[in-house]
Amino acid sequence: MDERLERYVTELFAPEDAVLSAIRARHDALGLPPILISPDEGKLLAVLLRAIAAARVLEIGALAGYSGVWLARALTARGTLTTIEKDPRHADLARRAYAEAGVADRVQLLEGAALELLPTLVPGFDAVFVDADKAPLAQYFEWSLRLLRPGGLLLCDNAFFHGAVVDPADRSPDAEGVRAFNRLAATDPRVLAAVAPIRDGLVIGVKVLG
Ligand code: DHB
Ligand code: MG
Repeated sequence: MDERLERYVTELFAPEDAVLSAIRARHDALGLPPILISPDEGKLLAVLLRAIAAARVLEIGALAGYSGVWLARALTARGTLTTIEKDPRHADLARRAYAEAGVADRVQLLEGAALELLPTLVPGFDAVFVDADKAPLAQYFEWSLRLLRPGGLLLCDNAFFHGAVVDPADRSPDAEGVRAFNRLAATDPRVLAAVAPIRDGLVIGVKVLG
């Protein structure tokens, strides 16, 4: 999107409150990778969760908690966000972010490797937001489908992966992981999915009622 239009939409539809701005500012100040979701992407996630009255949401890849605050705020009154983070430094920052946003009581942060923790979770999630390491994305796709309820939302950040998905020279495990997820989301009959071209591309899918 044109930069001016992007700013227009963000300022109008997704202004950050003081809590979100502080989390983003701290993230930047600490020199963490500038890969957090954008406010307009956070707002779209919130709209989608509200549309289905999501009460149980899973996030794979908490980073420093910014996206989790958007997700947790969009839950129903007694809803819960389960989020997985393998980097202890990010997990500490995420916990701090949830506390500052007043959502700590609705967020369960699991520290460790997603592929070890996913098998311990109880299925029935209303939505899964995948925003973690890219190489294992095909496995995250499979786990997400196993853990989602029929009609649940499959959401995945970085469908474009900075354009790497269409760079034939990029055969890195990360780029291949993103391609594999996109291919599965597009063609697996258990999912109906589209890509919203917001920031780095957001896959939005629904686990079809089976
Ligand atoms: C990368 C990962 C992300 O989740 C993201 O949103 C942007 C970039 C990366 O690994 O490069
Ligand atoms: Mg991402």
